[in-house]
Amino acid sequence: MEQYVIKGKQPLKGEVEIGGAKNAALAILAAATMANESVLIENIPNVQDVNVLLEAIREIGAGADRLDDHSVRINGASITDYRVDHEYIKKIRASYYLLGALLGKYKKAEVALPGGCAIGARPIDLHIKGFRALGAEVVIEHGLIKASAEKLTGTHIYLDKVSVGATINIMMAAVMATGKTIIENAAKEPHVVDVANFLGSMGANIRGAGTDVIRIVGVEKLHASEYTVIPDQIEAGTFMFAAAATNGDVTVKNVIPKHLEATSAKLHDVGCTIHEYDDAVRVVANGKLKHTQITTLPYPGFPTDMQPQMTVLLGMADGTSTVTESIFENRFKYVDELNRMGSEIKVESNIAIISGVGGYTGAVVNAPDLRAGAALVIAGLAAEGVTVVDDIHYIERGYERFDEKLRGLGAVIEKVSSEKEIQKFRLKVS
Ligand code: UD1
Repeated sequence: MEQYVIKGKQPLKGEVEIGGAKNAALAILAAATMANESVLIENIPNVQDVNVLLEAIREIGAGADRLDDHSVRINGASITDYRVDHEYIKKIRASYYLLGALLGKYKKAEVALPGGCAIGARPIDLHIKGFRALGAEVVIEHGLIKASAEKLTGTHIYLDKVSVGATINIMMAAVMATGKTIIENAAKEPHVVDVANFLGSMGANIRGAGTDVIRIVGVEKLHASEYTVIPDQIEAGTFMFAAAATNGDVTVKNVIPKHLEATSAKLHDVGCTIHEYDDAVRVVANGKLKHTQITTLPYPGFPTDMQPQMTVLLGMADGTSTVTESIFENRFKYVDELNRMGSEIKVESNIAIISGVGGYTGAVVNAPDLRAGAALVIAGLAAEGVTVVDDIHYIERGYERFDEKLRGLGAVIEKVSSEKEIQKFRLKVS
């Protein structure tokens, strides 16, 4: 089992290039199977979740060729199977996008109930409600969600909760339905807009993505396209927090600064200086971190996927901060690990009450999920001494060459797979 071993207290400095957005790429790859022509997608991150989804796409018979690390060609013309029950697919949340894509295209889909990070109950009732409203029959049997319809017909759907997954999935199911679909209380995340733009590039008729109301007029078929995925705002934000936590000075490049506004605003609140450029953001830490309050909210609010990284930073700030998690109820599992590194954080219901300590001390910790894993790496980069982060397969689901990119900024971090290698690292850095 691989681990990261980190010697902390090196201020991160320099420039880092951000890859394509994982969560946009996953939906776009699924959506690409809806055309019976060749679709070229660029800026796809080379991360585990993407590779698992590509494997599932191949298993149903579609063409899915990696042209290079970040370009993929999909062709849905050769799909022969509507059942996605691949051994690994349950492990990724985004497998549910094949449900919307296959149902929309073939009016039939059977997909294993999704897993993903264990950050709380993650129901898919809103996806199902949307499919049913479009005229599909949906049942759950033997661990599979089975959806089928004679015909899908455009309709008016109100989502009770803002859901990224449900918004994208219903959008995919509706693009080839007969007539007009209106999704109200839609999610406004940049990747919802990216998927809508991508579907538009294949001939779909979608208006309003990025607002609360998305209007779709069904078309008969989708066609070939070439498309580039937007930059990953969460990867970018993670490096911005790593800069802040290590008293560093880092420019994240190839980003859309507008997508990072909530993150930039909070870094400004805690005392960092933020410089925005056309497609880059520079974070300069000023030696001292101030306390603040945050609440995670759907976009344009502060993203839940940045919550653990923010908590790590506030754990070192002056005074008492609070972090309220309003999206997923179980997203503070990493706090026990962080407390082992010296933080003083109490979790009451969905609120973390953080008494800032001056800094952390290195320890052996477990990554409980993807973003919390990245946050523990940040804690290790800021800590006195050596930190070992276990279970880094979670981190590799969503960060491409994470350790390599951090080394490029001056971090002392290595990927190891044995106690012997950890000892060797400890000797080297002592
Ligand atoms: C996506 C992201 C995840 C991010 C989250 C919120 C992917 C693969 N994952 O997850 O990284 O943390 O958005 O930005 O893109 N809900 C329901 N019923 C549903 C669907 C959702 O009650 O049918 C609830 C969820 O439990 C949660 C809230 O709605 O409380 C938001 O979830 P949602 O936006 O759907 O998250 P995901 O699409 O699963």
